[in-house]
Amino acid sequence: MVRFEAVGLRYEAARASPRDSRGGEAPEALRGVTFALPEGSFTWLTGASGAGKSSVLRLMHAALRPTRGEVELLGLRTSRAGRRDLAALRSRIGVVFQDFRLLPYLTAFDNVALPLRLAGRTEASLRADVGEILRWVGLAAKMQSLPPELSGGEQQRVAIARAVVSRPALLVADEPTGNLDQRQARRLLALLDEMNRLGTTVVVATHDEELVARFPAPRLVLHEGRLYDPDGARDLDGTRSQPPREDEEAGEDRPGDYNG
Ligand SMILES: Nc1ncnc2c1ncn2[C@@H]1O[C@H](COP(=O)(O)OP(=O)(O)O)[C@@H](O)[C@H]1O
Ligand SMILES: [Mg+2]
Repeated sequence: MVRFEAVGLRYEAARASPRDSRGGEAPEALRGVTFALPEGSFTWLTGASGAGKSSVLRLMHAALRPTRGEVELLGLRTSRAGRRDLAALRSRIGVVFQDFRLLPYLTAFDNVALPLRLAGRTEASLRADVGEILRWVGLAAKMQSLPPELSGGEQQRVAIARAVVSRPALLVADEPTGNLDQRQARRLLALLDEMNRLGTTVVVATHDEELVARFPAPRLVLHEGRLYDPDGARDLDGTRSQPPREDEEAGEDRPGDYNG
């Protein structure tokens, strides 16, 4: 489902053009990260600020590709995939950000409908799905509200609805409770938990230990760009390192919202 093998990520290298002599000078944000997540799993991703959580998630929703090693998502190795395959892959992965990233001038309904409209679904066919998912997150009465008229918890539930309305196989959330109070955070986690019970593979980055304790699940712990693994068995750093890939699209690989 999700497989990282000896993954390294160097931001400058990912951004610079292949001929840019400055490329590759910054330290790696991720170093030798190896793990595999089974289909249908729920996994916490924890670690201090700067440890690399967001970087792992960017690789996990194919906003970035590794500068060394392999990332395989839903059967596709992102470092070898072409533009079209990557776009198709991204459409099967839902993303929730700490700062919601809703479009403020669109209603809750239209924010959630956006991925379906972009995918070419007809208005008649998407109406029921959007309504159903907004009811599921408890916002049936707020469908026509604009994001600025909603509380933080409500906005984050719209963001979840938008992330799951296309029924993604994989859902990644980057500190989704960071701007919520404890009650809203627990409600959000209950939704992610239910999504997982329905079969979606879920990965949630957080530094909220209270929340992790409340929803026990396997966890990946990052420390300074490395996966902390008590038995050391997963650390293959150095054994499979690869030269930087040659890829003319590298400059376009930026962290970003999967649906624009
Ligand atoms: N867009 C970026 N450009 C350059 N460096 C970055 C970028 N994003 C993160 N980093 C660096 O990568 C490291 C890991 O950051 P990040 O993945 O955001 O950690 P976390 O989400 O755990 O706080 C940090 O050293 C950070 O400064
Ligand atoms: Mg982060």
